[in-house]
Formats: sequence, C-alpha cells, structure tokens
Amino acid sequence: MAHLSSEFTLKSLNLKNRIVMPPMCQYSVESKDGKPTDWHFVHYVSRAVGGAGLIIMEMTDVEPDGRITDYDLGLWSDEQIPAFKRIISEVHKYGAKVAIQIAHAGRKAEDAKVPVGPSDIPVSPEFKKPRALSTEEVKQMVVKFKDAAIRAIEAGVDTIELHGAHGYLIHQFHSPAINNREDEYGQDLALFGVEVIQAVKSVMPEHMPLILRISAVEYMDGGYDLEHGIEISRRYKEAGVDILHVSSGGEGPVGTRKPGNHPGYQVPFARAVKQALDVPVIAVGLLDDAKLAEATVANEEADLVAVARGMLRDPYWATHAIQAVSGQISAPKQYERAY
Ligand SMILES: Cc1cc2nc3c(=O)[nH]c(=O)nc-3n(C[C@H](O)[C@H](O)[C@H](O)COP(=O)(O)O)c2cc1C
Repeated sequence: MAHLSSEFTLKSLNLKNRIVMPPMCQYSVESKDGKPTDWHFVHYVSRAVGGAGLIIMEMTDVEPDGRITDYDLGLWSDEQIPAFKRIISEVHKYGAKVAIQIAHAGRKAEDAKVPVGPSDIPVSPEFKKPRALSTEEVKQMVVKFKDAAIRAIEAGVDTIELHGAHGYLIHQFHSPAINNREDEYGQDLALFGVEVIQAVKSVMPEHMPLILRISAVEYMDGGYDLEHGIEISRRYKEAGVDILHVSSGGEGPVGTRKPGNHPGYQVPFARAVKQALDVPVIAVGLLDDAKLAEATVANEEADLVAVARGMLRDPYWATHAIQAVSGQISAPKQYERAY
C-alpha cells in the first residue's frame, strides 16, 4: 500500500488519498459574472474521475475588483452559488472532496480601474498604482471574506482554502515591504489575515478544517525570509488555520531568494513549517514524479502533496501515480478494463 493512497482525516475532512489538485485560475468565465461555466465543470469533474483526493477550486474572489482579471471566479453574490453547487455535487460522486480558494487580488487586480491594497506601493512600474484601503474599508473587507465563505459552504464545500500566498491581498498585508500602514493593520502585519481567519471560522461548521495557502518566503530583494513566513503562519494557526498549504514567492519582481526550478523545490519550506508549528501541511511545486510525491509523504515532509501543471497534462495523474508506486488500481469501474 502506497503512502500516496492512504487516507487522511482531519476533523470532518476525510480524504481517500493524499493527492491534492491545487487551485489553478482558468480565466474562463464567459460573461464576467464570476460564475463557473461548463469548462469549469468538465475541468474539475475530470480530475475527480482521475482520482484526486481533494480538489481545491481556483482563486475565487470576494468582490469584482478583487479579481486578477474579469474572467475569474467570484463568490460576492448569492446568484453565483448554484453554478458552484453543480460542480461540487458532481465531483462528490467520484469520491473527491472539494475546497474553494477564497481570495482578493489586492494590488495584483489587473482589470480593476484602481486596484486596492494595504498601501499605494505597486507590484512594479508596469502594474497599476493601487489605492491604500482606509481602516474602515479593511474591516469591510474582512466581512466580504466571511460572506464569500458562507456562500462556499452553501455550495457544498468540504473545506475552505484562504489565499494568503503569491502576493495577493492577505499576503500583501503580512509583507513588511508592501504594508507600510500606520493604523493597527500596519502595526501588526498579521492582523488582517487573523481577522479574516476568525471571521471565516465563525461561519464554518465547527468540525470543518480551514486551509491557508502561504508564501513561506518572498522572492523579491528585501522580501521576507522563512523565519518571518513561519512566524506569520504561527499567528494564522493560532487564529484557527488547521492546514497550511506551503508555496512561495509571487509578490513582485524576482530577486536572489528564488529557489531553482528543481523537482520538489518547495518541499523544504513545507517541512520547515510542519516541524516548527506541528501542523499538517500540503507540499506543492514540481512534485509530478510519482516516486518523489510518494517519498514526500512517506518521509513525513508533508501530509498531502499537490500537483498542478502535472494534472493539467494528465487529468488521471492521481490514478497513474498510485499505480506507478504501488501497482494498485484505483480507476472508476467503467475504466477498469484499461488497466
Ligand atoms: C494555470 C495556473 C493557474 C494557477 N492559479 C493559481 C490560483 O488560482 N491560486 C493559487 O494559489 N495558485 C495558482 N497557481 C499555482 C499552482 O497552484 C501551483 O502552486 C504551481 O503551479 C506549482 O505547482 P506545480 O509545479 O505542480 O505546477 C496556478 C498555476 C497554474 C499553472
């Protein structure tokens, strides 16, 4: 029996294996209304048929101008719930569990006339200059995250992921180089994220775990290091995060701290967060070699492994990886004759 194919249980979340489809923006909303389309239906249901244990639906934003582009998903209106519900209930038929990644792009919102952020510092000169949110607007933003979480739960998710990585709004607040505010949200860089976590947790069923994606280090010169990434993660864990999904970078122009493009390049970050905080972690980043994914779980470097681009190339990546490392066949019965 492979480690990859072993069950994972945390609170009410029970996964049939350790394989996660991480969030991947499809930029495929047809009428800018934030609603998933038939493309999204086929895209997610295929990976459920392909054997993934947990599917985290792509970055889904809490307000229209919180999207990277106008073609991204949103959960700012009850009208968006049914299209998510349709996908989630179909994915469930194939034994996969579902999360939605709830987010705000902040200063990385490309189609917003004037993007917002913790400060007016742009990503780079090529990006639009953001407007710093007022203290009152920050408090309203916390409520928007909470309302999106209520809608995700209404749509039937098994867990929620908050996007605190890749230079989006939560990350922008906890970044010393991006957040130069003088109010309480600048004095305490983790405060915005902590309030979002507490607000979202307050509307989640008691036993539903919350995932947060974090950039363990920033890549830009002068960006934060692993020690800061772990301290911020500690605050988020104390506020109620149950699982950390450990990524890195994404906040601005790349400097010297960027790891090379090697298989498993972010696993050392996942292991460091797991060891420092004694928290379940998802490792991600060039883990599409099945043996490497299996070793990452077997060596207890991470509890779960996520494969993004590998699953775009092969929707059946999970089935094939489990077969490769253990010979076990986990295909749906309609496909068994192929194995
Ligand atoms: C097309 C595409 C879209 C992505 N969109 C998101 C996203 O919505 N949210 C997010 O946190 N990461 C996003 N990512 C990053 C992936 O989730 C993942 O962390 C990254 O691709 C590294 O994993 P991999 O080497 O297995 O591809 C995206 C990646 C790709 C390729």
